[in-house]
Amino acid sequence: MNNKPKTVTTIKQMKEQGEPITMITAYDVAMARNVNEAGIDMILVGDSVGNVMLGYTSTIPVTMDEMIQHTKAVVRGNSTALVVADMPFMSYQADMADAMYNAGRFLKETGCTAVKLEGGQEVAPLIKKLTTAGIPVVAHIGLTPQSVNQLGGFKVQGKEMAAAQQLIDDAKALEEAGAFACVLECVPAALATKVTQSLKNMVTIGIGAGNGCDGQVLVCNDLLGVSNGFTPKFVKKYANLHDITIDAVKSYIADVKSREFPAEEHTFKIDDSVLEKLY
Ligand code: KIV
Repeated sequence: MNNKPKTVTTIKQMKEQGEPITMITAYDVAMARNVNEAGIDMILVGDSVGNVMLGYTSTIPVTMDEMIQHTKAVVRGNSTALVVADMPFMSYQADMADAMYNAGRFLKETGCTAVKLEGGQEVAPLIKKLTTAGIPVVAHIGLTPQSVNQLGGFKVQGKEMAAAQQLIDDAKALEEAGAFACVLECVPAALATKVTQSLKNMVTIGIGAGNGCDGQVLVCNDLLGVSNGFTPKFVKKYANLHDITIDAVKSYIADVKSREFPAEEHTFKIDDSVLEKLY
């Protein structure tokens, strides 16, 4: 395995060489250590932390301070993957100066390499400013969860002519503005392939966008099957940590109730001579 830290340049080279790029979300140090050890190329500290770790029903309530805290933890656990921090809702939409300040906070306070933000042509001027200031950017188009209220739900995007053309135009504008990568979420596979093939300098990372993208991203808890709730069609579960966790905790409960745990090997000793003198 190549243990050299991944950079924006090496990720772009992977596209040139036709090597698929792997990305996964992580939100804490333990997961970051594990996915790093497994050899992942990129880690996304997604604002999906809101749903996955914090119990919110959408990504809308996630704050800058929450994102900073989780990104710091991930960076501490990482050594070779390229870490991307998601800019939360309203940390970049209202004001260009605020957006620059917030993106800068990620790099300065957490040590991550890049930021991700949602949107098409409308965020291109911001991306130009960020990249000119030395802040690498991952864009995100298609289904953009921060606009779920505007989009009317979590639906496949770009199925109609105008929306499909818009997606292509957005991708070109984002590449032109300097984004080095772009997440394509919930987009028909053939459209995502067409977008990918039309781009030279921007890597596409698909989630629910088929096999023609330059790379793929999944939410770590989905891939690992941490909960037994709804699983989107585009997720492949590689493990069932939900069942493993329930079985393990049930065994623990049973062992404690029956006094089988802790056993001799989990127990510290004291000399009988000391014990005898106690009153
Ligand atoms: O927040 C997130 O996890 C994401 C991925 C779904 C791409 O944006």
